[in-house]
Amino acid sequence: MVAATGSPEGVRNKVEVRDLAIRYGSATALAGVSLEVREHEIFGIIGPANSGKTSFLRALNRMDLFTPGMAVEGQILFDGRDVRKWRNVYALRRRIGVVFPLPVGLPLTIYDNVALAPRLRGIRKKAELDVIVERCLQRAALWDEVKDRLDSLGSLLSGGQQQRLTIARALSQDPDLLLLDEFSIAVVTNLVQQARRLADRTAFFLTGEMVEVGETDALFAGEVRDERTRQYLEGRFG
Ligand SMILES: Nc1ncnc2c1ncn2[C@@H]1O[C@H](COP(=O)(O)OP(=O)(O)O)[C@@H](O)[C@H]1O
Ligand SMILES: [Mg+2]
Repeated sequence: MVAATGSPEGVRNKVEVRDLAIRYGSATALAGVSLEVREHEIFGIIGPANSGKTSFLRALNRMDLFTPGMAVEGQILFDGRDVRKWRNVYALRRRIGVVFPLPVGLPLTIYDNVALAPRLRGIRKKAELDVIVERCLQRAALWDEVKDRLDSLGSLLSGGQQQRLTIARALSQDPDLLLLDEFSIAVVTNLVQQARRLADRTAFFLTGEMVEVGETDALFAGEVRDERTRQYLEGRFG
């Protein structure tokens, strides 16, 4: 396989986006976005409110199918395969987990929230489910806080805990790709620092346009292609 533009040779792309445009009715939310997310990397997307970040994640796991008026143009390849060519969108969405800022509270206990997907996959043995539930809650950094009350309702947890529960639930599907959309719970400056700590590469979106994409360290060191990126990272707007 030929390495796609922008990725060093030998590096596999998990996601390849080509000339993506997203519209809601006649309003364009995002246009002309092309980027790759490499296998095993943590890829950050930053940008002020309404830049198209959440819309981008929605397009990745085909939520446009369930969002009235949302239209996606261009191409999104996941493991080299066009996400629109998956006949079973639920199979695609099991491999791409998404965690949105507002936790969708399932009226279930903490345990059942995390055990739901494994049960749907056919796992019935309590001992086996116990192992999965503990592992997912550990990985979501929630286990210590809830291990003594796994039978209480997930919706009784604090907002931050519910968000981690949602992450545990997403992990229980064993996704290949996990999309975390936490923009609306963080201040922009915080988020920029979060991207700096977590992301190998970062894309900067601004008013429906991708200004640039680059190595996070380089961007924060001021090696930017576009002056607006420097200004945003320096906190001069947004
Ligand atoms: N369901 C929707 N219907 C109509 N417009 C939407 C919808 N979701 C988002 N938009 C619009 O798309 C643009 C991008 O929004 P969004 O992707 O949520 O940006 P961000 O996540 O960066 O804040 C905004 O102008 C927003 O109002
Ligand atoms: Mg958003």
